[in-house]
Amino acid sequence: MPYQFAADRENYADYAGGKVFHSLPGYPAFPVRLVSEMFQRCLAVRAAHGLSGPCTLYDPCCGGAYHLSTLAYGHWDDLEMLIGSDVDEQAITLARRNFALLTLPGLDDRIAEIETLLKRYCKPSHAEALESAQSLRARLCQLTQAHNLQTHLFHADVMRSQTLQEGLDGRRIDIVLTDVPYGQHTTWQIADTARPPVWQMLESLRSLLAPDAIVAVASDKSQKVVHADYRAVAHFQIGKRRIVLSMVR
Ligand SMILES: C[S@@+](CC[C@H](N)C(=O)[O-])C[C@H]1O[C@@H](n2cnc3c(N)ncnc32)[C@H](O)[C@@H]1O
Repeated sequence: MPYQFAADRENYADYAGGKVFHSLPGYPAFPVRLVSEMFQRCLAVRAAHGLSGPCTLYDPCCGGAYHLSTLAYGHWDDLEMLIGSDVDEQAITLARRNFALLTLPGLDDRIAEIETLLKRYCKPSHAEALESAQSLRARLCQLTQAHNLQTHLFHADVMRSQTLQEGLDGRRIDIVLTDVPYGQHTTWQIADTARPPVWQMLESLRSLLAPDAIVAVASDKSQKVVHADYRAVAHFQIGKRRIVLSMVR
């Protein structure tokens, strides 16, 4: 059974892309349940290495950060900071709008926007979106009582380590969790075609990771998550996606 942790088919209706969370055509949304499973598998590996406590999670191909934002609602207490970067500036603009929904002022702005749409068009979809936004607000009120989640976004090519280092500005990465392009909806932007893009990504991330950091990559079967400096610590497959968790040797 591929799902070990996100085993229950929870009702993810409030998280649907385009309802409260923002989406745009051409910016694929990573499934909420799968990102939760990947994250919990990373936490299990951390626990096996004696590591606990809230962590800093980074996605260097974050797209519109839909998946990171939904992950935050599900796993707030396990997260201290969420960081995203992408080579596409429009994706970062979309990601900023989604990260804003992790704050009460940002979510209140979204609620006001949906209320305006509902008044103007009286559509059932807007009424449902308002209901979801209010339910997310109730949850966010509880979550932010414990702590505020820090977020950080920047524009960068994942294959340029120096640019990543500048964007991260000394922040320590505990978990990298990413859904890399596989050509169906998004493609790699790659300057050097001599080496596979996933290898180049791992090479570029290598010096930026905390000791015992975990790198979880979801890709299609044609892309191998291999690099001599990393060892695979877990892998699983769900549908067409293969997920590999690695650590630096
Ligand atoms: C499959 S999408 C990620 C979608 C995201 N998981 C979500 O749920 O919104 C892959 C992303 O990789 C980005 N990408 C492609 N080449 C890149 C590169 N060289 N550096 C950083 N990001 C890149 C694309 O712009 C795209 O946003």
